[in-house]
Amino acid sequence: MTTAQPNFDLIARPYRWLEYITLGRALEDCRLHYLPSLLKRKQALVLGDGDGRFLAQLLAENPHLRADAIDTSAAMLLLLRKRCEGLAPNASTRLKTHQANALTCPLDGPYDLIVTHFFLDCLTQPDLENLVNRIAPTLAPKALWLVSDFHIPSGPMRLPAKVLVRTLYLAFRILTGLRTARLPDHATSLQQAGLTRIAHRHRLAGILVTELWQFNPATP
Ligand SMILES: C[S@@+](CC[C@H](N)C(=O)[O-])C[C@H]1O[C@@H](n2cnc3c(N)ncnc32)[C@H](O)[C@@H]1O
Repeated sequence: MTTAQPNFDLIARPYRWLEYITLGRALEDCRLHYLPSLLKRKQALVLGDGDGRFLAQLLAENPHLRADAIDTSAAMLLLLRKRCEGLAPNASTRLKTHQANALTCPLDGPYDLIVTHFFLDCLTQPDLENLVNRIAPTLAPKALWLVSDFHIPSGPMRLPAKVLVRTLYLAFRILTGLRTARLPDHATSLQQAGLTRIAHRHRLAGILVTELWQFNPATP
């Protein structure tokens, strides 16, 4: 059983500015940090990309890429499509948008790239595990999975990070109805599905992390 869906329609337009006001360019830095490693990818599945700032940039810099973008929010998908078509050549033929719940909608594949920027933290642990198990069979060998998320570091930044994350969850609960209240552990689920973390970078004293994972299917 999946958790009740949040609705991001109301905050789709101001989302970018709310982000810049609260955290400046830190999330943007995370999203774009590994973009140069994605220029040879051919088929991407992009989950919950919001207003499409990342996907537009990716399609613009990788003209061979085709992408499926899934989001529950019609308003976010509208902004995403507009932004992609404005920035990337032939985006209209290379991009398919699906207004759907990533936890239940049919998935195509094979994909050599999965992107989840600040999306897995919308999920509960069981929903995240279910999602990873659904995506794993669609992965091509050596597929990359790019994850950006909030993170609770150890040391002096632990408490400030907890306060920030709790405050953000509360704000999203009020604005979108998001029920998730704690960060799920994506690392264990990805490892169990046969992925290995090959690169990572922290921002904001460890409160944000962006990671590149690679799929190495087990040999029989
Ligand atoms: C916190 S926003 C992140 C947006 C963007 N990826 C970013 O980097 O800021 C989460 C996005 O995921 C979408 N979303 C949340 N739960 C979803 C689900 N179960 N299936 C598909 N999309 C979902 C929301 O509509 C929203 O666009």
